[in-house]
Amino acid sequence: MSMFPGEMAAEPVNVNEFQELARLTLPKMYYDFYSGGAEDQQTLKENVEAFSRITFRPRVLVDVSRIDTSTSILSYNISAPIIIAPTAIHQMAHPEGEVATARAAAACNTIMVLSYSSSCTIEEVAASCNAVRFYQLYVYKRRDITRTLVNRAERNGFKAIVLTADTPRLGRREKDIKNKMIVPPLKNLEGLLTAKVVSDAGSNLEAFANETMDASLCWEDIGWLRFITNLPILIKGILTREDAKKAVQAGAAGIIVSNHGARQLDYSPATISALEEVVNAVEGKIPVFMDGGVRRGTDVFKALALGAKAVLVGRPVIYGLAAKGEHGVRRVIEMLKDEFELAMALSGCPSLKHITRNHVRTERDRL
Ligand code: FNR
Repeated sequence: MSMFPGEMAAEPVNVNEFQELARLTLPKMYYDFYSGGAEDQQTLKENVEAFSRITFRPRVLVDVSRIDTSTSILSYNISAPIIIAPTAIHQMAHPEGEVATARAAAACNTIMVLSYSSSCTIEEVAASCNAVRFYQLYVYKRRDITRTLVNRAERNGFKAIVLTADTPRLGRREKDIKNKMIVPPLKNLEGLLTAKVVSDAGSNLEAFANETMDASLCWEDIGWLRFITNLPILIKGILTREDAKKAVQAGAAGIIVSNHGARQLDYSPATISALEEVVNAVEGKIPVFMDGGVRRGTDVFKALALGAKAVLVGRPVIYGLAAKGEHGVRRVIEMLKDEFELAMALSGCPSLKHITRNHVRTERDRL
């Protein structure tokens, strides 16, 4: 889809139109950073396309005069199973950055996961709104810094830690290399980064990741993390039954099936294709969430039918923020929620507990 600015409706009617508006609004380097994926971007395409290969098995003549989309995540009640994924550096999309995103989360009565690479501080985001917030963590090579960040999140009322496990090193994102994409100063990490990260001739993304993320992190370290915090720990970036079982054993409070928005290992499976394997392996012991490629309310429904407790959305939130600030983020979440509610009505599901595996047909079902 390509449009000239004059052709774009003032108010987008779906998430893809928000993406187009963001593309027209943002400097190319930033748009490429937000929208791009790793290497051939095969997984980037697949994350979206795999949803389109799942069809519905709708039921009719069910009383759907009232639809309840609400759910509860780690005992926090939210209006719909649509959560804001952690994504980096929101101030490149809008001057208010993560503060605007958090306010939109509060207005929509949903949860925001704040990225470790946020442009606003933990304290600024906490003071800005009363949304339920989780804090996404990369374990820093210097454990004292990680401990400080976790303590700050805890002190500022964040309700869970989301440990991202799929980034021992940064995936190769060729657009960022070509654009010489520079990570701007991040206030949460002020004074902690070396000169190499702060000023680099080319893109400093890799230097940033290599310095801050501990590639030796392994399952045993979850014990250390559980020791330094009382917050529940969700593990993000799981794609296989083997790792799902390890996450349960390690005491995770939940799993997020994710391929990091296709920014890490290209040719990883689409997350919606990996979801059921993880759900089956977990046997209901802990909730399973998913993210990657959710662009429609029907995608939310499909994920729930395949066993997800909720979905997280990454890029659509940034596109809303870039296009229209806090209002844009609100609209994106509301659109997905409205579409989801409609999908529930049209498939005969008045509440989330009515959504079952039998409401969708996957490619595997057709074999
Ligand atoms: C991300 N993601 C991410 N994940 C994480 O754990 N910490 C982070 O700082 C970031 N940063 C980040 C930046 C940008 C620009 C993107 C697009 C993604 C991954 C994110 O949490 C999530 O897994 C994906 O974005 C989900 O896919 P969609 O919704 O973008 O298709």
